[in-house]
Amino acid sequence: MDLKELCPVLRFADLGDERGKLVVIEGGEAVPFEIKRVFYIYGSDATVVRGQHANRESQFVLTNVAGKSKVRITDGTEDIIIELDKPMMGVYIPPMLWKDMYDFSSDSVLLVLASTHYDGSEYIRDYDEYLKEIGKNMTYISG
Ligand code: TYD
Repeated sequence: MDLKELCPVLRFADLGDERGKLVVIEGGEAVPFEIKRVFYIYGSDATVVRGQHANRESQFVLTNVAGKSKVRITDGTEDIIIELDKPMMGVYIPPMLWKDMYDFSSDSVLLVLASTHYDGSEYIRDYDEYLKEIGKNMTYISG
């Protein structure tokens, strides 16, 4: 499966009417896991790169509820870039993919839904370690 299939762009139910917008995201439905944690990132700007890690366990859905940002996802071979610029769109990210979030607009509020409670030990924050764990380390051992 390629990265576009592994990381589908999701469309959330938009129940807006003349009173304004209403976007609904239900765990186990629009999001393919039960949501255990929600966090959001704001106050970053176009010079900041966040993320820069892979997770051994956690699945995530990212959506910009305001403003825009980009997420680059790689498996060490291919990479895709998704622009999050609508509150009714998100991207699903399964475990063991490396991600960077960047190019935040000044009004960006990036909402992250996670399948796990926070556990720092399931984060891989070193890219070489990530490549090693997925069996793509570049070290050639002759023999
Ligand atoms: P970090 O993982 O660097 O944020 P991001 O990768 O999304 O840019 O997290 C910053 C700090 O916050 C770090 O010390 C870990 C802590 N943290 C929690 O305690 N709980 C959480 O759910 C998250 C996402 C981070």
